[in-house]
Amino acid sequence: MYFFKHINKIENELALPGDKSISHRSLMISAMAEGESEINNLSNGEDVKTTWKCLEQLGAAIFEDNGKIKVKGKGFKNFDKPKDALFAGNSGTTARLLSGILAAQNFQSIITGDESLSQRPMKRIIEPLTQMGSNIESNDFKLPIKINPSKNIKAINYTLPVASAQVKSSIIFAGLHCEGETKIIEKIPSRNHTEKMLNLKTDKNEEGKIIFVSKKDYPNPSKFFVPSDISTAAYFIVLTLLTPNSYLLLKKVSLNDSRLGFVNHLKKMGAKIKFENVINNAAEPYCDIFVESSELKNIQIDKSDIPNLIDELPILTIAGLFAKGEFILENAEELRYKESDRINTIVTNIRKLNIEVEEKSDGFSFHDNVKVDTSEFESFGDHRIAMSFAVLSMLLKNGGNVNGFECVNISNPDFIEQVKGISC
Ligand code: S3P
Repeated sequence: MYFFKHINKIENELALPGDKSISHRSLMISAMAEGESEINNLSNGEDVKTTWKCLEQLGAAIFEDNGKIKVKGKGFKNFDKPKDALFAGNSGTTARLLSGILAAQNFQSIITGDESLSQRPMKRIIEPLTQMGSNIESNDFKLPIKINPSKNIKAINYTLPVASAQVKSSIIFAGLHCEGETKIIEKIPSRNHTEKMLNLKTDKNEEGKIIFVSKKDYPNPSKFFVPSDISTAAYFIVLTLLTPNSYLLLKKVSLNDSRLGFVNHLKKMGAKIKFENVINNAAEPYCDIFVESSELKNIQIDKSDIPNLIDELPILTIAGLFAKGEFILENAEELRYKESDRINTIVTNIRKLNIEVEEKSDGFSFHDNVKVDTSEFESFGDHRIAMSFAVLSMLLKNGGNVNGFECVNISNPDFIEQVKGISC
């Protein structure tokens, strides 16, 4: 359990670790490319370490050199057969993206995960990868999965049934190993790091966004700069907005347009947020984000925005608790399939505030404001729930406790030190 005391004021600047999604992809793309790649500002969270370890088991050499990460990649279909099962820990991105790469290798591999990941759906990747010719055995479409050697992986046309960057990326990684061109159609676009980092051809038609990938797009060694994680910045943004007389400058945060749903929504709610020192000519753009205390009002969250702020919905709910008007979340059933069933875990914690909350299959709503001075919340082993309710605790008059806060290590092991560094 960790006690977060009430914070009176925030006045400072903060440089956060690298974006988790971009970090996973930098490691995987580097490990695929034959030769040495370099990654600057890799995430220091457990999830990314998990990807690192799995890629080492597959024969890539990954080491730190002068504050940067160097990766000696293996080349086309050249990974080593791992001696043991690959443990994807708590990380859906590791399990699903790696499956795409492994579906195209000439050896058998097994992916396992922790208790939470072992309950999360894998049918969404098993189905398209099977269509591509992969032979995958699973535990009723959950982990562990066994990916059998596949000689004949082939291109497909695939319309994504769920807006999921993990599923899209898994197919893209498999598609990099096919002679023919794989065509992926996204009705509602999800985060676009994989297609951007691989410089894939994309198009739009009446069905949505189309992504094309084939063997021609197989990566070469490269240099990556990973901007700070907007999803990690989100907790500090809300804490600053809701703490009186406060400001915070967040340095070099990812400005990827497919990740801006949260900041754009907060701005519409009345948040004073400015982008400064915008760098647009990088593969992944970034900028400094200046935030000031603001009065917020709840507004409707558009269905098409949900994939672009999916990871920020827990902390957006905390903002909603202090904003004027009713908070309504709908069209967000995907939240039930994250590190915890986030609809249920958020609602359970919010009910501790003596607030009436209506839970539905795809969201929840409430119209009360916070009335208690302190409380005790559960992390449910989910890093984003832990950080969201840590922020709520710091906004309560007498602070609050978060049980199982150590799961924060999944994405941001330095959260507590960072809070101490910016608050008075
Ligand atoms: C991620 C995609 C999202 C997100 C997850 C990271 C990624 O999941 O929730 O934290 O890096 O591709 P889905 O693609 O399953 O929506």
